[in-house]
Amino acid sequence: MLRGSNFRRLNTGRVPHANHDKMFVAGNWKSNKSFNEAKEFANAMSAMPAIPEGVEVMMAPPAPYLAALGSSGLPCRLGAQNVSATGPGAHTGEFTADMLTGCGVQDVIVGHSERRDGYGDTDDTVAEKVNRVLESGLRVVFCCGESLQDRQTDVHFDKVLRQMESAILHLPLEVMDRVVVAYEPIWAIGTGLTATAEQAQEMHAAIRGWLVEAFNAEAAAKVPILYGGSCKPSNADELFACPDVDGGLIGGAALDPESFRAIIDAAGRVAANRMSIDTGA
Ligand code: 13P
Repeated sequence: MLRGSNFRRLNTGRVPHANHDKMFVAGNWKSNKSFNEAKEFANAMSAMPAIPEGVEVMMAPPAPYLAALGSSGLPCRLGAQNVSATGPGAHTGEFTADMLTGCGVQDVIVGHSERRDGYGDTDDTVAEKVNRVLESGLRVVFCCGESLQDRQTDVHFDKVLRQMESAILHLPLEVMDRVVVAYEPIWAIGTGLTATAEQAQEMHAAIRGWLVEAFNAEAAAKVPILYGGSCKPSNADELFACPDVDGGLIGGAALDPESFRAIIDAAGRVAANRMSIDTGA
């Protein structure tokens, strides 16, 4: 097994930092907003200035709104918050990855802690959902993260890297350009508590190091690693400035178009900075 202790060792300068093309800001509305409110948000976002260069944006509304927003609505990538672990057939209430594709969905969030903790998504279920998403040609936003108890007992690296191992290790190298990892410490989700920039960078570097060992440095550098957990306009600049933080998965602050936009602009500033470093400007 690829163990956390290895990755703390790797986190000493051997691991290349991210060099994928874009910062990525993804919103997750969870079970919030009426359909009218969703359409109002889409209109408000459409009326805003263009998304800054070097930033990719995704919004994941509740599933019943996907088809409508996919055909008319959001000026960004469309994401789903969940997917079935099974294919088509007699599975009442489930929706398959291929059905999402038909609704204009491009990205699917899998493994969110709210689904792991509240709706029975085990590591095996999560791994199967990751497979289904990638087999359908979609991009997966794979969530991982530790509980407060994990952090307090110093097993947070092992916990997160074990989640990576269970859902990502088996994937063929050629699909890794459709994998996004979202590190969401459970104790920071919806609590107002945020990981410090140091805590986020340390875990993101460990995840990057794991990807280097599991695949290779080039693939690892291209996987966007997002931070999620009470990310908001007031802390986005600091979090995104960390070299291995490539954007955010945003819950509460994605419900309001202005605050979501402010986070997109923070990503735009970091993207401009990274581009100027890359070009030596
Ligand atoms: P909050 O930004 O509300 O903490 O939620 C984060 C999250 O769970 C996004 O998926």
